[in-house]
Amino acid sequence: MKFEDFLFTREGEDLFEKTRGLDKVLASGVMTGSEGLGVQILEKTGPCVKIKEKSGSEHRVIMLGSNSYLNLTTNKKVCDAAIKAIEKYGYGMGAVSVYAGICDIHKELEKRIANFYNTEDAVLFPSGYGTNIGVISALCSKEDIIINDSANHASIFDGSKLSGADVRVYPHNNMEALEHILKKCKKKNRAKLIITDGVFSMHGDIARLDKICELAQKYNAKVMVDDAHGLGIVGATGRGSAQVYNIGDKIDLHVGMLSKTAGALGGYCATTRKIARYLRHYARSFFFSTALPAPVAAGLNEVFKLLEHDRAGRKELWENITYLKSKLEKLGFNTGESQSGIIPIIIGDEAILFKMYQDLRLSGVYTNIVTYPAVRRKECRIRICVMKDLTRDMMDSAVEIIEKTGRKYGVI
Ligand SMILES: Cc1ncc(COP(=O)(O)O)c(C=O)c1O
Repeated sequence: MKFEDFLFTREGEDLFEKTRGLDKVLASGVMTGSEGLGVQILEKTGPCVKIKEKSGSEHRVIMLGSNSYLNLTTNKKVCDAAIKAIEKYGYGMGAVSVYAGICDIHKELEKRIANFYNTEDAVLFPSGYGTNIGVISALCSKEDIIINDSANHASIFDGSKLSGADVRVYPHNNMEALEHILKKCKKKNRAKLIITDGVFSMHGDIARLDKICELAQKYNAKVMVDDAHGLGIVGATGRGSAQVYNIGDKIDLHVGMLSKTAGALGGYCATTRKIARYLRHYARSFFFSTALPAPVAAGLNEVFKLLEHDRAGRKELWENITYLKSKLEKLGFNTGESQSGIIPIIIGDEAILFKMYQDLRLSGVYTNIVTYPAVRRKECRIRICVMKDLTRDMMDSAVEIIEKTGRKYGVI
């Protein structure tokens, strides 16, 4: 039995039959990859935290599963700003942006993000997922062509589907295939948007944005980059994937998430004044969704003050990334093409993956489990996210446990 066996209602079946089917599988003790669902965190997310298992037992883990790469979720200045804002504005805005759901703090944040990307404007969305859904479905419709990297985030595929556009997909980072699609679309004289993750969320590698922008220019397409995992991490001063190639000005839509490095919630699209104005009117996940709480926006202003000056600890993070990655590679683990704070350990066998993930967590190393539908089953993996505040001792202990578990299951 597989995850996708419960996606559809069969003819003549009750709509909820599939929910009962899944219930049976979960009760049978067969692992599904959802073992982590229901594990609770008992304190602030840091490099070593106490968690509570579904069984009720509590124990400490070395945290290799958080996207708060620079530990900004717990940064004092960030938290103090949020506390100050909660005192002034309360903990929620109570309205969508167009119904006076935003305040001076949101306007400041929009300006900071636009400055960060050197664009005219930036639109804030209350969720990262909703950012992709909103931007793509506002700008594209059935007359248009969207071209996606196969490893793009689910929210990009969902937004593409919602837009009704003709969606084409090229194999991950394969520029020849991208050009082939563009060539084929050339005759059609339809508007084209190429969308790619900047840093790929399940692989940790970086899109070939130099080549993508070159092809976009050649075939008259626009470019959107979702740099959820690149913000503050990659590029000479942490400005993200576009900075890796110095082509920030060639990206039409700089999308990013405020939930990873930035440590909170929400997303943004930094772009021209006219496109931003259009999005504020037509992006439904903006227009019809309540604005970010002021305390969150206030914390994010402090985050961008740090990121602007590259003072959030990126160098220390990279020391940890290099240290951990080289240790894992020396042991013989396959870490793919990682170029960021995301290090995959490719397993390729789901049964082993589920067991390894459980063993790691119960032995004190928290990681993320990644399989279908996020990646193909034969590429299933443990995903490690590195944090700036991990100490050498923590990393050494984690590697020791990963090595032991990897040997137990014949991964190395
Ligand atoms: C590349 C990418 N885009 C979008 C999202 C969605 O962001 P959020 O979790 O903030 O909704 C994520 C994270 O899950 C992501 O990794």
